[in-house]
Amino acid sequence: MTINEQLIQMFEERPQQFLSGEELSTKLNCSRTAIWKHIERLRQEGYEFEAVSRKGYRLMSKPEKLNIQEILQRLETSTLGKSIHYYDEVDSTQTVARELITQGAEEGTLVIAELQTAGRGRLGRRWHSPKGKGLWMSLVLKPRIPVQFTPQLTLLIAVALCRALRQITSLSIGIKWPNDLLIEGKKISGILLESSAEDENLQYVVAGIGISVNLAQDDYPDDELRSKATSLSIEAGKKLDRTDILCQFLRELELVYTLYHEQGFGPIKLLWEALSVSLHRSITCQTPRGVSEGYAVGIDDSGALTVRLPDGSMTQWYSGDIQFANPVAD
Ligand code: BTN
Repeated sequence: MTINEQLIQMFEERPQQFLSGEELSTKLNCSRTAIWKHIERLRQEGYEFEAVSRKGYRLMSKPEKLNIQEILQRLETSTLGKSIHYYDEVDSTQTVARELITQGAEEGTLVIAELQTAGRGRLGRRWHSPKGKGLWMSLVLKPRIPVQFTPQLTLLIAVALCRALRQITSLSIGIKWPNDLLIEGKKISGILLESSAEDENLQYVVAGIGISVNLAQDDYPDDELRSKATSLSIEAGKKLDRTDILCQFLRELELVYTLYHEQGFGPIKLLWEALSVSLHRSITCQTPRGVSEGYAVGIDDSGALTVRLPDGSMTQWYSGDIQFANPVAD
């Protein structure tokens, strides 16, 4: 650990307390002037300290930036997130992850950025990714499955994400088919899967995950987005620790991903159905051929939505953007 890391650790072990320059210099075996210089360097990185003569320093707040060393220390996974590529700013973490794959990136490689200038969502949409306010990340996965099972991965990731966010926030978060996480009908997270296959076998998947963690109302660019989207902090009424969320998500994902490889999609399907807000209700779906109506009955083993049409026949919807016919109950 560097001296700066040790300093932060000492302040975090004794929150709200003043630590004297003398104590810090003795414990870290350096001069008080050196301590002052380290504190100044940490201030430049965004840490805020109160300094009071004869009392010492007190850590007031930490920077909005993620600390990769801290993440690696707190991660409880054996593969996912063990290699992290962290950026202040990228166009899209998806693009960076795909580039890393061409350079041999292994399963579990994580690309994460504080800000995306061209974050992308499903169906060609943009993904709003302001600096330091969310978790904007792409995870490289190389599952050993036939290509037609790829949609199952979206549902699997949604399950892990929903479980992790519920555990951390205790908010009532549900999954809207196929990949949105909602609170009271407003979106807090989305998943974008980009994959490559060869000879019917999946080569890799880049799972892009956006979680709106600490956005405030005025972090949204317009009323339209504000009316459809929300953040965990708006809903919880307090700021949340992005590192907690990231570590819990990767932990849940590794558990669910292992279960999937050992037992197939069956248990994932059950978990998904239990967390879903899309089933047993009337829905519409925007398709290239227009708007279709139906009643969502369940999901099938490929991850498609099973829908009963108004004439009573059953069909599968493989992709698209569903809307609820009765939005009050979202
Ligand atoms: C959606 O709901 O439409 C999917 C949104 C996915 C957004 C994430 S943010 C990190 C990663 N990089 C991107 O450009 N998109 C995904």
